[in-house]
Amino acid sequence: MQETYLDRRDLLPDPLAQFALWYEEAQQSTVALPHAMVLATADAQGRPSARMVLLKECDQRGFVFYTNSNSHKGRDLSQNPRAALVFHWEPLRKQVRVEGDVERVSSEEADAYFATRPRGSQLGAWASPQSESIPDRTALERETNQLEAHYAERDVPRPPHWNGYRVCPGTLEFWVDRASRLHDRFEYRRSPQGWQIRQLAP
Ligand SMILES: Cc1cc2nc3c(=O)[nH]c(=O)nc-3n(C[C@H](O)[C@H](O)[C@H](O)COP(=O)(O)O)c2cc1C
Repeated sequence: MQETYLDRRDLLPDPLAQFALWYEEAQQSTVALPHAMVLATADAQGRPSARMVLLKECDQRGFVFYTNSNSHKGRDLSQNPRAALVFHWEPLRKQVRVEGDVERVSSEEADAYFATRPRGSQLGAWASPQSESIPDRTALERETNQLEAHYAERDVPRPPHWNGYRVCPGTLEFWVDRASRLHDRFEYRRSPQGWQIRQLAP
């Protein structure tokens, strides 16, 4: 197999444009869920937790995902609005890491995205007290059926606890798997002068 590599001269000056390039490549590849990413958060005491979420939007402002604000991650983010993301696109042998401050997307933006979701997911967002203890699955299904009847022939509004979060990157790292574990790694760091790029040892 031809070795992939990342050369400093090929890097775009803007890391969000660099991400867009790689993301496009991942979407065109055999990667099953190119938009799946690890989201790491920490609470006010710095206790970490991580889970997968889906990237729903990415532009110059940052990386957007949606979740329940009362969940474990939602509680972490209300105490400590910072996060780290990891994408790993195995067939491309590439990894991207992102770290930054987190803000909520506007309610208009969240409403607009919620309206595009399948009805079952919309009802699920109301029915599931994400990350809380529930007696059994039947309770969840009963709640969903009641909501189905409640919203029969009506649009399901966005629950107030269901929100979008934007990770606004302060650093991004682009990594390519190379032979002998001598991988290529480049980090972009935001500075008052613009994005600074440095190469990191693998
Ligand atoms: C591939 C994948 C994508 C997921 N995407 C989301 C998502 O976009 N939003 C979400 O709230 N949970 C998503 N989940 C579920 C989370 O991993 C997690 O179980 C849930 O959000 C509760 O996490 P918490 O208790 O740490 O808050 C996804 C799980 C997988 C495996």
